Amino acid sequence: MQEDSLMKWLIERLKYLTVRRFLNRAVSEFDSALRRTRVASYPVFLIVEPCNFCNLKCPLCPTGQRLPAERGKMTMETFISIIDQLSPYCWHLNLFYLGEPLLCENLPVMIDYARWRKMEVSVSSNLNLLSEEMADRLIDANLDHLIVSLDGTSQEIYEKYRIGGNFNKVIDNIILLNQKKKQKVSPYPRIEIQFVVFKHNEQEVPLIKELAAKLGVGFYLREGTLGGKEQSPPLTKDYSLAEQWLSPNKEYHKGYDYFERKPYIQEGYCGYLWKIATINWDGSVFPCCWVFEGKYKYGNIMEQSFKTIWNNELMQSSRSLFKKNKRSRPDAETGGPKTICYQCKMFKHICNDQC
Ligand SMILES: C[S@@+](CC[C@H](N)C(=O)[O-])C[C@H]1O[C@@H](n2cnc3c(N)ncnc32)[C@H](O)[C@@H]1O
Ligand code: SF4
Repeated sequence: MQEDSLMKWLIERLKYLTVRRFLNRAVSEFDSALRRTRVASYPVFLIVEPCNFCNLKCPLCPTGQRLPAERGKMTMETFISIIDQLSPYCWHLNLFYLGEPLLCENLPVMIDYARWRKMEVSVSSNLNLLSEEMADRLIDANLDHLIVSLDGTSQEIYEKYRIGGNFNKVIDNIILLNQKKKQKVSPYPRIEIQFVVFKHNEQEVPLIKELAAKLGVGFYLREGTLGGKEQSPPLTKDYSLAEQWLSPNKEYHKGYDYFERKPYIQEGYCGYLWKIATINWDGSVFPCCWVFEGKYKYGNIMEQSFKTIWNNELMQSSRSLFKKNKRSRPDAETGGPKTICYQCKMFKHICNDQC
């Protein structure tokens, strides 16, 4: 980031700063630096899923694969309970997880509520379905940031991954939002195209830059990951998909190396377990946004308070995997309940190099 744009970014964020959020952030830094398993802080970042169904069938997305079987929309009661418990501490809300958020008609009301609680809100959408009414409601609700998933500059390339998607419709919907923003004299939502890089579209990286400039929106690249077919990406066993989908160019898989099967985090800790809350449409709390199957949930917000779940036996057991003193980390025989984190392939010390 350029120095002046970094300054602009910092100034923009100051409006979300409160004493409580600042203190929580400071305590969170201590909790994670000391690898406390029982924490005094709340998460600083929130991921909430408005619904887990979708109009498209992206082959590496669990939702695209129609996994998990149970589908639904978050109720306003669940949403309000989450925001009321967490907004005093968290200042950013990612209002998407699995599923297409624009299919949830309550989305603008959710945005409005979170904005009223002084949170910054981002939504990621495939933007195939946008009525004029929804465009108005998103702008009127004061959505901060809209990520548009567009990984191609033609229908032919775009639909290879976004199965069922319509490239021209996405472009028209970006134009519609820009027109509405102009009419309403609103700089929001800030629109960014997100181009997920795969083997079949990497040649279009320079073209997406041009397209974004032509449309007057931002853009960024995201590396393609595996998932869907079998399990969450850091747990996948189906490596044949790497050959089929992922770019062999190392530039586009700096994260987990699916070709060499090497965990990419050698040391350190998992930020999700100390700093990020991930909550799906029915209020289930997960350790991170890679995990989605109900059997791996750590609790449900409609049954217990978030505070209780955040420090329960499962959370503490997962955090203990990252103890600084290697001898106090649990192994197969010791430690608390064996959570899904015990199988995570992202961290070298968890999978002992045999990923
Ligand atoms: C599961 S989607 C849900 C939101 C919305 N339906 C969308 O596609 O933008 C969450 C994010 O994952 C991204 N995504 C989908 N498949 C991916 C893949 N194989 N690798 C990396 N990111 C992916 C999407 O572009 C989106 O930004
Ligand atoms: S559009 Fe988003 S939620 Fe839908 S299948 Fe694709 S990545 Fe998954």
